[in-house]
Amino acid sequence: MYAINSNTLDFQLLRVLSDGKIHTYKTLSSKLNCTSLSVFQSIQVALNYGIEISLINGFGVFWSRPFVWINEGAINTFLKDQKIFFNLTKFNLLDSTNSYLIRNKSVYLKHGTIPVIVSELQTKGRGTSNRNWFSNLGGCLTFSILWQYKHKIQHLPSLGLVVGVSLIRVFRNLALTSVHLKWPNDLLYKNKKFGGILIECNTNEQISTAVIIGIGVNFKLSSNLASLVDYAVTDLYEITGYMLDRNQILALFLIELRHVLNTFENYGFHVFRNEWQSYHIYQGQNIVLRLPNRLNVEGIVDGVQDDGSLTLITSSGRKNFNVGEISLRAKS
Ligand code: BTN
Repeated sequence: MYAINSNTLDFQLLRVLSDGKIHTYKTLSSKLNCTSLSVFQSIQVALNYGIEISLINGFGVFWSRPFVWINEGAINTFLKDQKIFFNLTKFNLLDSTNSYLIRNKSVYLKHGTIPVIVSELQTKGRGTSNRNWFSNLGGCLTFSILWQYKHKIQHLPSLGLVVGVSLIRVFRNLALTSVHLKWPNDLLYKNKKFGGILIECNTNEQISTAVIIGIGVNFKLSSNLASLVDYAVTDLYEITGYMLDRNQILALFLIELRHVLNTFENYGFHVFRNEWQSYHIYQGQNIVLRLPNRLNVEGIVDGVQDDGSLTLITSSGRKNFNVGEISLRAKS
Protein backbone atom coordinates (compact mmCIF):
# COMPACT_ATOMS: atom_id res chain seq x y z
CA MET A 1 0.00 0.00 0.00
CA TYR A 2 1.35 3.42 -0.77
CA ALA A 3 1.03 6.19 1.77
CA ILE A 4 -1.38 8.99 1.02
CA ASN A 5 -0.26 12.46 1.94
CA SER A 6 -3.42 14.17 3.06
CA ASN A 7 -2.46 17.52 1.51
CA THR A 8 -1.02 16.58 -1.83
CA LEU A 9 -2.94 15.70 -4.92
CA ASP A 10 -3.03 12.06 -5.86
CA PHE A 11 -2.11 12.19 -9.54
CA GLN A 12 -2.44 8.43 -9.93
CA LEU A 13 -6.07 8.65 -8.85
CA LEU A 14 -6.73 11.59 -11.16
CA ARG A 15 -5.25 9.75 -14.11
CA VAL A 16 -7.55 6.79 -13.49
CA LEU A 17 -10.54 9.14 -13.21
CA SER A 18 -9.66 11.01 -16.38
CA ASP A 19 -11.38 8.33 -18.48
CA GLY A 20 -14.62 10.09 -17.43
CA LYS A 21 -16.24 6.78 -16.39
CA ILE A 22 -17.89 5.93 -13.08
CA HIS A 23 -15.50 4.23 -10.64
CA THR A 24 -16.49 2.63 -7.34
CA TYR A 25 -14.37 3.21 -4.23
CA LYS A 26 -13.71 -0.52 -4.21
CA THR A 27 -12.31 -0.71 -7.75
CA LEU A 28 -10.29 2.45 -7.18
CA SER A 29 -8.79 1.12 -3.97
CA SER A 30 -7.77 -2.09 -5.67
CA LYS A 31 -6.38 -0.30 -8.75
CA LEU A 32 -4.40 2.10 -6.57
CA ASN A 33 -3.47 -0.47 -3.95
CA CYS A 34 -4.83 1.52 -1.01
CA THR A 35 -7.89 1.53 1.26
CA SER A 36 -11.29 2.92 0.25
CA LEU A 37 -10.83 5.48 3.03
CA SER A 38 -7.61 6.68 1.41
CA VAL A 39 -9.42 6.99 -1.92
CA PHE A 40 -12.17 8.99 -0.22
CA GLN A 41 -9.58 11.29 1.42
CA SER A 42 -7.75 11.83 -1.87
CA ILE A 43 -10.99 12.77 -3.55
CA GLN A 44 -11.64 15.37 -0.85
CA VAL A 45 -8.18 16.83 -1.54
CA ALA A 46 -8.92 16.95 -5.28
CA LEU A 47 -12.26 18.67 -4.60
CA ASN A 48 -10.43 21.25 -2.47
CA TYR A 49 -8.17 21.93 -5.45
CA GLY A 50 -11.29 22.80 -7.44
CA ILE A 51 -11.32 19.61 -9.53
CA GLU A 52 -14.92 18.88 -10.45
CA ILE A 53 -15.29 15.27 -9.40
CA SER A 54 -18.90 14.15 -8.89
CA LEU A 55 -19.72 11.88 -5.98
CA ILE A 56 -22.37 9.18 -6.25
CA ASN A 57 -23.39 8.77 -2.64
CA GLY A 58 -21.63 5.90 -0.91
CA PHE A 59 -20.95 4.20 -4.22
CA GLY A 60 -18.31 5.86 -6.30
CA VAL A 61 -17.18 8.85 -8.28
CA PHE A 62 -16.69 10.18 -11.78
CA TRP A 63 -14.95 13.12 -13.35
CA SER A 64 -17.28 14.30 -16.07
CA ARG A 65 -15.04 16.89 -17.72
CA PRO A 66 -11.46 15.75 -17.28
CA PHE A 67 -8.78 17.87 -18.89
CA VAL A 68 -6.16 16.71 -21.35
CA TRP A 69 -2.94 16.12 -19.41
CA ILE A 70 0.35 17.59 -20.42
CA ASN A 71 1.99 14.78 -22.27
CA GLU A 72 5.54 14.56 -23.61
CA GLY A 73 4.50 12.22 -26.46
CA ALA A 74 1.80 14.65 -27.63
CA ILE A 75 4.15 17.65 -27.37
CA ASN A 76 6.78 15.83 -29.42
CA THR A 77 4.16 14.93 -32.04
CA PHE A 78 3.26 18.61 -32.38
CA LEU A 79 6.94 19.57 -32.46
CA LYS A 80 7.45 17.19 -35.41
CA ASP A 81 11.03 17.34 -36.72
CA GLN A 82 11.84 20.21 -34.32
CA LYS A 83 11.68 17.91 -31.28
CA ILE A 84 15.42 17.27 -31.61
CA PHE A 85 16.12 20.82 -30.43
CA PHE A 86 14.43 20.42 -27.04
CA ASN A 87 15.03 18.44 -23.87
CA LEU A 88 11.58 18.22 -22.33
CA THR A 89 10.93 17.28 -18.69
CA LYS A 90 7.42 17.12 -17.33
CA PHE A 91 6.43 17.19 -13.66
CA ASN A 92 3.07 16.75 -12.02
CA LEU A 93 3.92 19.14 -9.23
CA LEU A 94 6.71 21.66 -8.70
CA ASP A 95 7.07 24.73 -6.56
CA SER A 96 7.92 26.75 -9.67
CA THR A 97 9.40 25.75 -13.02
CA ASN A 98 11.68 28.83 -12.88
CA SER A 99 12.87 27.98 -9.35
CA TYR A 100 13.48 24.39 -10.43
CA LEU A 101 15.70 25.52 -13.32
CA ILE A 102 17.56 27.97 -11.08
CA ARG A 103 18.30 25.14 -8.63
CA ASN A 104 19.28 22.65 -11.33
CA LYS A 105 20.89 24.92 -13.89
CA SER A 106 24.28 23.20 -13.77
CA VAL A 107 22.68 19.86 -14.71
CA TYR A 108 21.27 21.35 -17.89
CA LEU A 109 24.08 23.69 -18.94
CA LYS A 110 26.34 22.43 -21.77
CA HIS A 111 23.64 20.12 -23.14
CA GLY A 112 23.21 20.73 -26.84
CA THR A 113 19.44 20.89 -26.53
CA ILE A 114 17.17 23.52 -24.99
CA PRO A 115 15.94 22.43 -21.55
CA VAL A 116 12.18 22.80 -21.13
CA ILE A 117 10.54 22.22 -17.76
CA VAL A 118 6.76 21.99 -17.67
CA SER A 119 4.63 21.29 -14.62
CA GLU A 120 0.95 20.38 -14.39
CA LEU A 121 0.76 22.45 -11.24
CA GLN A 122 2.97 24.92 -9.39
CA THR A 123 2.64 25.39 -5.66
CA LYS A 124 4.77 28.55 -5.48
CA GLY A 125 4.51 30.06 -8.93
CA ARG A 126 6.32 33.38 -9.11
CA GLY A 127 5.42 36.48 -11.08
CA THR A 128 7.20 39.75 -11.76
CA SER A 129 7.77 42.29 -8.96
CA ASN A 130 7.88 39.48 -6.37
CA ARG A 131 4.23 38.68 -6.89
CA ASN A 132 2.73 35.20 -6.78
CA TRP A 133 1.61 33.51 -9.97
CA PHE A 134 -1.47 31.41 -9.33
CA SER A 135 -2.62 28.52 -11.47
CA ASN A 136 -5.10 25.69 -11.18
CA LEU A 137 -4.61 22.07 -12.17
CA GLY A 138 -5.34 21.49 -15.86
CA GLY A 139 -6.32 25.13 -16.39
CA CYS A 140 -2.94 26.70 -17.05
CA LEU A 141 0.26 26.17 -18.95
CA THR A 142 3.30 26.83 -16.77
CA PHE A 143 6.74 26.16 -18.17
CA SER A 144 10.29 27.47 -18.29
CA ILE A 145 13.15 27.14 -20.70
CA LEU A 146 16.87 27.65 -20.18
CA TRP A 147 18.34 29.61 -23.05
CA GLN A 148 22.11 29.85 -23.37
CA TYR A 149 23.62 32.72 -25.26
CA LYS A 150 27.07 32.45 -26.75
CA HIS A 151 27.86 36.01 -25.68
CA LYS A 152 26.90 38.10 -22.73
CA ILE A 153 23.70 39.79 -23.77
CA GLN A 154 23.32 43.51 -23.51
CA HIS A 155 19.71 44.21 -22.85
CA LEU A 156 17.85 41.63 -20.83
CA PRO A 157 14.58 43.62 -20.72
CA SER A 158 14.34 43.61 -24.50
CA LEU A 159 14.76 39.83 -24.41
CA GLY A 160 11.48 39.79 -22.45
CA LEU A 161 9.85 41.87 -25.15
CA VAL A 162 10.84 39.45 -27.92
CA VAL A 163 9.52 36.53 -25.89
CA GLY A 164 6.20 38.41 -25.83
CA VAL A 165 6.40 38.79 -29.62
CA SER A 166 6.82 35.04 -30.03
CA LEU A 167 3.75 34.26 -27.91
CA ILE A 168 1.55 36.80 -29.68
CA ARG A 169 2.66 35.42 -33.07
CA VAL A 170 1.45 31.97 -32.02
CA PHE A 171 -1.96 33.27 -30.95
CA ARG A 172 -2.41 35.48 -34.00
CA ASN A 173 -1.51 32.53 -36.26
CA LEU A 174 -4.39 30.73 -34.58
CA ALA A 175 -6.67 33.66 -35.57
CA LEU A 176 -6.78 35.17 -32.06
CA THR A 177 -6.29 38.62 -33.49
CA SER A 178 -7.41 40.60 -30.43
CA VAL A 179 -4.63 39.50 -28.10
CA HIS A 180 -2.12 42.20 -27.22
CA LEU A 181 0.97 42.94 -25.17
CA LYS A 182 1.16 45.41 -22.34
CA TRP A 183 4.65 46.76 -21.65
CA PRO A 184 6.83 45.15 -20.69
CA ASN A 185 5.43 41.69 -21.34
CA ASP A 186 1.92 40.95 -20.11
CA LEU A 187 -0.44 39.10 -22.42
CA LEU A 188 -3.78 40.90 -22.58
CA TYR A 189 -7.19 40.41 -24.05
CA LYS A 190 -9.55 43.38 -23.73
CA ASN A 191 -7.50 44.83 -20.90
CA LYS A 192 -7.57 41.60 -18.93
CA LYS A 193 -4.37 39.66 -18.35
CA PHE A 194 -4.20 36.03 -19.43
CA GLY A 195 -0.48 35.38 -19.40
CA GLY A 196 2.89 36.62 -18.22
CA ILE A 197 6.62 36.16 -18.64
CA LEU A 198 9.29 36.01 -15.93
CA ILE A 199 12.90 36.27 -17.10
CA GLU A 200 15.68 35.49 -14.65
CA CYS A 201 19.43 35.25 -15.10
CA ASN A 202 22.63 35.30 -13.16
CA THR A 203 24.30 38.52 -14.22
CA ASN A 204 27.69 37.48 -12.74
CA GLU A 205 28.40 35.10 -15.56
CA GLN A 206 31.19 36.40 -17.74
CA ILE A 207 31.30 34.22 -20.81
CA SER A 208 27.84 33.04 -21.63
CA THR A 209 24.53 34.14 -20.27
CA ALA A 210 22.05 31.46 -19.36
CA VAL A 211 18.60 32.94 -19.13
CA ILE A 212 15.61 31.30 -17.55
CA ILE A 213 12.42 32.22 -19.37
CA GLY A 214 9.25 31.33 -17.48
CA ILE A 215 5.87 31.57 -19.13
CA GLY A 216 2.43 31.20 -17.61
CA VAL A 217 -0.77 31.23 -19.67
CA ASN A 218 -4.30 30.83 -18.36
CA PHE A 219 -6.36 28.29 -20.30
CA LYS A 220 -9.34 27.87 -17.96
CA LEU A 221 -9.08 29.47 -14.56
CA SER A 222 -11.03 28.10 -11.63
CA SER A 223 -13.46 30.68 -10.23
CA ASN A 224 -11.53 31.23 -6.98
CA LEU A 225 -8.27 32.16 -8.73
CA ALA A 226 -9.51 35.43 -10.18
CA SER A 227 -10.22 36.70 -6.66
CA LEU A 228 -6.59 36.12 -5.57
CA VAL A 229 -5.12 38.86 -7.76
CA ASP A 230 -5.66 42.62 -7.78
CA TYR A 231 -5.94 43.01 -11.55
CA ALA A 232 -8.46 41.85 -14.13
CA VAL A 233 -7.75 38.35 -15.46
CA THR A 234 -9.09 36.19 -18.22
CA ASP A 235 -8.28 32.88 -19.89
CA LEU A 236 -8.19 31.34 -23.35
CA TYR A 237 -11.47 29.54 -22.70
CA GLU A 238 -13.22 32.87 -22.19
CA ILE A 239 -11.44 34.35 -25.23
CA THR A 240 -12.13 31.52 -27.69
CA GLY A 241 -15.15 29.69 -26.23
CA TYR A 242 -13.32 26.38 -26.20
CA MET A 243 -10.50 24.55 -24.46
CA LEU A 244 -7.29 24.79 -26.45
CA ASP A 245 -4.84 21.90 -26.30
CA ARG A 246 -2.01 22.85 -23.93
CA ASN A 247 0.31 20.30 -25.57
CA GLN A 248 -0.16 21.86 -28.99
CA ILE A 249 0.21 25.42 -27.73
CA LEU A 250 3.38 24.52 -25.83
CA ALA A 251 4.87 22.98 -28.98
CA LEU A 252 3.96 26.06 -31.05
CA PHE A 253 5.47 28.35 -28.37
CA LEU A 254 8.72 26.37 -28.32
CA ILE A 255 9.10 26.44 -32.11
CA GLU A 256 8.49 30.20 -32.24
CA LEU A 257 10.60 30.95 -29.17
CA ARG A 258 13.63 29.16 -30.59
CA HIS A 259 13.29 31.03 -33.85
CA VAL A 260 12.80 34.44 -32.23
CA LEU A 261 15.57 34.02 -29.63
CA ASN A 262 18.07 33.03 -32.31
CA THR A 263 17.12 36.08 -34.38
CA PHE A 264 17.41 38.30 -31.30
CA GLU A 265 20.88 36.96 -30.57
CA ASN A 266 22.05 37.57 -34.15
CA TYR A 267 20.36 40.87 -34.97
CA GLY A 268 19.21 42.48 -31.71
CA PHE A 269 15.88 43.96 -30.74
CA HIS A 270 15.54 46.53 -33.51
CA VAL A 271 14.29 43.92 -36.00
CA PHE A 272 11.35 43.28 -33.65
CA ARG A 273 10.60 46.85 -32.61
CA ASN A 274 7.87 47.68 -35.11
CA GLU A 275 6.18 44.36 -34.59
CA TRP A 276 6.30 44.71 -30.81
CA GLN A 277 4.82 48.19 -31.03
CA SER A 278 2.03 46.94 -33.30
CA TYR A 279 1.07 44.45 -30.57
CA HIS A 280 1.23 47.01 -27.75
CA ILE A 281 -2.23 47.82 -26.48
CA TYR A 282 -1.16 51.32 -25.38
CA GLN A 283 0.87 52.37 -28.42
CA GLY A 284 0.09 56.07 -29.09
CA GLN A 285 -2.16 56.29 -26.05
CA ASN A 286 -2.17 58.47 -22.99
CA ILE A 287 -1.04 56.46 -19.97
CA VAL A 288 0.16 56.84 -16.41
CA LEU A 289 3.35 55.17 -15.13
CA ARG A 290 3.74 54.58 -11.45
CA LEU A 291 7.44 54.75 -10.58
CA PRO A 292 9.16 52.90 -7.71
CA ASN A 293 9.27 56.17 -5.72
CA ARG A 294 5.45 56.19 -6.03
CA LEU A 295 5.47 59.23 -8.30
CA ASN A 296 3.16 59.12 -11.31
CA VAL A 297 4.29 60.16 -14.79
CA GLU A 298 1.73 60.86 -17.45
CA GLY A 299 2.45 60.77 -21.17
CA ILE A 300 1.73 59.40 -24.61
CA VAL A 301 3.38 56.08 -25.45
CA ASP A 302 5.86 56.60 -28.27
CA GLY A 303 7.23 53.07 -28.49
CA VAL A 304 10.12 51.08 -27.03
CA GLN A 305 13.91 51.32 -27.31
CA ASP A 306 16.56 48.65 -28.00
CA ASP A 307 17.18 48.28 -24.26
CA GLY A 308 13.48 47.52 -23.70
CA SER A 309 12.68 50.89 -22.14
CA LEU A 310 9.34 52.55 -22.81
CA THR A 311 9.33 55.99 -24.42
CA LEU A 312 6.75 58.53 -23.30
CA ILE A 313 6.08 62.00 -24.61
CA THR A 314 5.51 63.88 -21.37
CA SER A 315 4.80 67.54 -20.65
CA SER A 316 8.56 67.95 -20.04
CA GLY A 317 9.66 66.17 -23.21
CA ARG A 318 10.44 62.70 -24.53
CA LYS A 319 11.58 60.31 -21.80
CA ASN A 320 12.57 56.65 -21.55
CA PHE A 321 11.58 54.47 -18.63
CA ASN A 322 13.33 51.23 -17.76
CA VAL A 323 11.63 48.00 -16.89
CA GLY A 324 11.53 47.80 -13.13
CA GLU A 325 8.93 48.21 -10.50
CA ILE A 326 6.92 50.37 -12.84
CA SER A 327 3.23 49.80 -13.31
CA LEU A 328 1.42 51.07 -16.35
CA ARG A 329 -2.25 51.94 -16.66
CA ALA A 330 -4.45 53.74 -19.10
CA LYS A 331 -5.19 57.39 -18.32
CA SER A 332 -8.76 57.43 -17.06
C1 BTN B 1 4.03 37.86 -14.49
O1 BTN B 1 3.97 38.24 -13.32
O2 BTN B 1 3.36 38.38 -15.38
C2 BTN B 1 4.95 36.76 -14.87
C3 BTN B 1 4.33 35.41 -14.63
C4 BTN B 1 5.24 34.24 -14.98
C5 BTN B 1 4.67 32.93 -14.52
C6 BTN B 1 5.46 31.78 -15.02
S1 BTN B 1 4.63 30.25 -14.78
C7 BTN B 1 6.07 29.37 -15.22
C8 BTN B 1 7.23 30.10 -14.58
N1 BTN B 1 7.42 29.65 -13.22
C9 BTN B 1 7.16 30.59 -12.34
O3 BTN B 1 7.22 30.47 -11.10
N2 BTN B 1 6.81 31.72 -12.95
C10 BTN B 1 6.83 31.57 -14.39
